Formats: sequence, C-alpha cells, structure tokens
Amino acid sequence: MIDIAYAEWLELGFRWLHLIAGIAWIGSSFYFMFLDYSLQPDENLPAGVKGASWNVHGGGFYFMQKYTVAPEKMPDVLHWFKWEAYFTWISGFSLIIIIYYWGAETFLIDKEIMDLTQWQAIGMSVGSFILSWIVYDRFCKAPVGKNDIALSIVVFLLILLAAYGFTHVYSGRGAFVHVGAVVGTIMVANVFLVIIPNQRIVVKALIEGEEPAAHLGAEGKQRSTHNNYLTLPVLLMMISSHFPMIFSNKHSWLVVGLVIIVGGIIRDYFNAKNQGKDGKRLMWQWPAAAIFMAILIVFISYNEEVKVAEDDQMGSTDVLAIIQTHCVSCHAAKPSDNDIGNAPGGVRLETLADIKKYRSKIMKQSVLTKAMPLGNKSGMTEKERKGVGDWIKRGMP
Ligand code: HEC
Repeated sequence: MIDIAYAEWLELGFRWLHLIAGIAWIGSSFYFMFLDYSLQPDENLPAGVKGASWNVHGGGFYFMQKYTVAPEKMPDVLHWFKWEAYFTWISGFSLIIIIYYWGAETFLIDKEIMDLTQWQAIGMSVGSFILSWIVYDRFCKAPVGKNDIALSIVVFLLILLAAYGFTHVYSGRGAFVHVGAVVGTIMVANVFLVIIPNQRIVVKALIEGEEPAAHLGAEGKQRSTHNNYLTLPVLLMMISSHFPMIFSNKHSWLVVGLVIIVGGIIRDYFNAKNQGKDGKRLMWQWPAAAIFMAILIVFISYNEEVKVAEDDQMGSTDVLAIIQTHCVSCHAAKPSDNDIGNAPGGVRLETLADIKKYRSKIMKQSVLTKAMPLGNKSGMTEKERKGVGDWIKRGMP
C-alpha cells in the first residue's frame, strides 16, 4: 500500500493536471463555439467558406475562416484539438481512483444508503461510465437524434436518471461527483469516438481527392454543441463536494436537474450573444436563470429547526464525547483513520475550544446536513446530531 502522504501528493498532482487540462479544453471549446457563431458571410471569401471572423488578441489581428466541410487541398500543417480533452479525462479518472475507489469506504459508500463492498462500489462505478456512453450514443444515432431539441430533452432525462440511480447507491458526495464524471466521460467520448474519428475520415477523403460526406461534420457539430451546453453544469458538479447543501439533500437528483437547466440557460445567453443576436433573444436568459436558481436555493435551503426536548439537552461534556467518537479519527493532528493523512480542511476537533471555533461549520456539516462524519462509518445518530445543533444554538453552555 502506498504511504498516505504520497497519496496526497498524487491527488494534488492529478488535481492540478485536471484543472489545467480542463481549463485548456473548456477554453478552446468556448473559443470555437464563439468563433462558429461569430462567422460573417462575405462574397469575397474562397469557395466552400461559410464565413469569416476578425479577432483581435494580444496585440495582433486574426482573420479566421470556416470551411463547412473542408478545404479543397489539405494544408501542410493542421492543428488538432484533442489532447486537452483526453488529459482532462485521464486526470479526472485518476482522481476517482485515488479518492473514490481507493478510499471507497470513506468517500463513496454510505451504508445507510446501500451496504456495498468496496469492489461492488467500484464495479458499479466503472459499469455506469460504460453504460451511460452506450445509451447516450445510441440515442444520438436513433431517429430522435435528427431533432436537436428532442434529443436534448432525452439527454437531460438520461442524466436525471443517472443522478437518481447514483443518489440511491452512493454517498451524496460520491453520487454528485459520479454524475459529473458520467457527463464528463460522455463529453470526452464525444471527442474521442465521434468528433475526431469523423474529422479523420474527412481529412483522409481529402487527401485521396474525394468529396467528404457532409453528415460527418454535422454529427461532430451536434456532439460538440452538447459538450458546450453541459460544460457549466459539470463544473458545478465537480466543485460540489465542498458544498454539503448541494449533495447532502434527500432529492439531490432534482438538484442535478436544476443545475443543468441553470447552466444550460446561461450558456445559451453567451451562444446567442456570440451570434450577434440582440433584443428579445438575449432578454430571457438571465431572469430565467435567476428564477431557477432561486427555486434551487429555496428547494435545498436548510431546515434550521434544531430544537430538542429539555430532557435531551446536552452540555459541553456530552458534545465533546460525541465529537470524539465520531470526528476525531479524522479531524486530529494525527488522524487514526487509514484514508486520512492530515486533519481535513485543517479542521481539528480535539478540544472544546476547537469545537467552539468551528461551530458554524459543524452545524452545516453534521447537523443541517449529514455530510460528516464521512460515510457515517461510526453511525452518528439523528439524536446526537440534533443534540449538538441544539447545544450550538443555545450558545454552547
Ligand atoms: C472518515 C474521516 C472523517 C470523519 C470521521 C469526519 N470527517 Fe469531517 N472531513 C473529512 C474530510 C476528508 C473532509 C474534507 C472534505 C472535502 O474535501 O471537502 C472533511 C471536512 C469537514 C469539514 C469542512 C472543512 C472545511 O474546509 O470547511 C468540517 C466542518 C468537518 N469535516 C466536520 C466534521 C465533524 C463535525 C465530524 C464528526 C461529526 C467529522 N467531520 C467527521 C473527513 C472526516
């Protein structure tokens, strides 16, 4: 077994890579979506060119033209955009292995939701990535795939279904990251299995002096548009593990739905704006996104009522004992839990002073939501949660 300290360096390394590759991928994806929408037709453009766009950046002017299918003759140097997508997936999957497979009992499994073994949890995770891609890809190629709107609704429902499934199998946090990872996998597979292979066929046809089939480019464009609309929701799902109110919710699969709607609407605003649209076409998105966001916030807001009967009220010693039983195995200078190297988030809960200092965080993580203790390995009861919450509310006597 690798030493826990090295595991943390490994996690940091892959997280860094994941961010860098993700930024590069999303950045180029946003740029090309913008470029596509900003193209202006012009009679003077060469044959086969749909439109051109003038850009200024970093002290120079760029003149970009798009050949809808392909230029007549292949250029000598052609730049492909794919490694940023592949590395985003490779680093992301490595993180899942390091955090969620290796530490499955802490981060992925919640025995109150489903009593899985580590290998069952891992098997279901890997299987779900493969299955989701197959189902998604089939739908895109089915007759419904001819209609962009109908297909988007199908894809949306499929993601909701995946979210429903994950939240009934894994811990809240594990489930949310899995929804994000499934969508991310579909996005990368779109690049790896559709967009780039189609592009290769076009290039090959051109080199052989044949006319490439136009549907290849259209198919790639459809997948790339899906990727574009899914970007913002996926990013939120990936950072959700730091926000227990998002994932520690009875109906968190519905939260996924709202997140996709809000993210998609905001993306649509920018896409329409890039197309040079104005007036009504740009007026609805921000208000609609705000309304859905408000629904989301109201929907997941905490139930702040944590009163207990006078007989059940706790004092400092009771609370200290509870925290020592359920939290200190991880939240200590030297955690005894095998999956934890240092006090997570720098939060140490060894003394009463520590507990008082972190009272509002404890309230959020262990009383208002059940995010902590992770995976509830120690079986913290509802009564204990309420008791701690009530003690905090009474001013920690
Ligand atoms: C099995 C190990 C484990 C146990 C037990 C555990 N925690 Fe945690 N805790 C973690 C980890 C890991 C994180 C970091 C989560 C993340 O990456 O966002 C964390 C994060 C937190 C945070 C948030 C820190 C921040 O940066 O905001 C608080 C507060 C917290 N835990 C409180 C508790 C309380 C209270 C208990 C006991 C009721 C508890 N934890 C039990 C592992 C544990």
